[in-house]
Amino acid sequence: MIYMDNAATSFPKPEAVYQAVDHFNRNLGGSPGRGSHQATLRAGAILLECRELLARLFNVKDAAQIAFTANITDAINIGLKGILRPGDHIITTSMEHNAVARPLHALSRLGVEWTAIPCRADGSLNPDHIVPAIKANTRMICMLHASNLTGTILPIEEVGLIARRHDLTFMVDSAQTAGVLPIDVEAAHIDILTFTGHKGLLGPQGTGGIYVDPRLELRLLREGGTGSASELLEQPATMPDRLESGTPNTPGIAGLAAGVEFILATGIDNIRRHEQELTDILCRELRNISGLTLYGPGDSQRMTAVVSFNIGGMDCGEVSLRLDQEYGIISRSGMHCAPLAHKTIGTAAIGACRISPGCFTSVSDIHTVIEAVREIART
Ligand code: ALA
Repeated sequence: MIYMDNAATSFPKPEAVYQAVDHFNRNLGGSPGRGSHQATLRAGAILLECRELLARLFNVKDAAQIAFTANITDAINIGLKGILRPGDHIITTSMEHNAVARPLHALSRLGVEWTAIPCRADGSLNPDHIVPAIKANTRMICMLHASNLTGTILPIEEVGLIARRHDLTFMVDSAQTAGVLPIDVEAAHIDILTFTGHKGLLGPQGTGGIYVDPRLELRLLREGGTGSASELLEQPATMPDRLESGTPNTPGIAGLAAGVEFILATGIDNIRRHEQELTDILCRELRNISGLTLYGPGDSQRMTAVVSFNIGGMDCGEVSLRLDQEYGIISRSGMHCAPLAHKTIGTAAIGACRISPGCFTSVSDIHTVIEAVREIART
């Protein structure tokens, strides 16, 4: 199998990730923060370590401001619904994933106003279009850092500055960029950073989290046991307990810590350089295939390693099926849970076939994929 669906979930993981999950499940156990025995203390230390590694990666000053969530969709819901009230206005982009669009659609039924700034056909955003969209009731700007459809990188630093100047809460969906591009919450003025553990951070599925600037207090979507201040019925006010009710996915978080450690040790710049090389080869060669339409910027400087295309009038699902059945190549076709993004790039009616290499993909794998696509386009 040649795995080219890292935008959905990364595979394989570093060996240390498999070992960390297995070691926790087999040898450690314990529910973090519940009681004071050695197993709970060891489990708690895993959470602490992972929080600190993530804080290093994202330049978060106080690791306690990072809460673990079930996944990034959970984190996005916590952020949006924790801030927005009926009558508030939020600005997003036309490239958002349903993880943002669906909660906003639901909130719009409760009286939240929503403006999606149109992006260009390659998925890019002109940040000059943000300021004219700001209204008296604008409370928040929420945007993805890079598209899961085209890989297009959006200018979070510029938009973060606009948000700060207009005193708006700035929230970033880093599903496609955490572990892939540098993210600095201070430099980009990010008030809420949502991340997933199982993509670029190379951890297991079922992990993710949210960083919340200490000046913000989110309204809660859920309350429950935290292992702290248990004599009180009131949910603790302090982070991360405030947002972490119920037993967390400690084995997953042990794996996530190993994934982040791997990234810090390898160097995000080295990962990025490798993925840029793969992306440039893919874009250059695919573009030359007769009948193939390539979407997105087509230039690795402006995108992550996510490349979408269609071949003539062929059904994108059939292209993926043939890649899988005839060549053992795993791709993802269809809508990618991002109908707004498909509308933006002009593929809402047909979808697209997406290839997303990862940090363990080799140049030779990329050439195999290109040859397979070339053959499919010929037949
Ligand atoms: N959002 C993920 C994808 O693009 C699941 O495939």
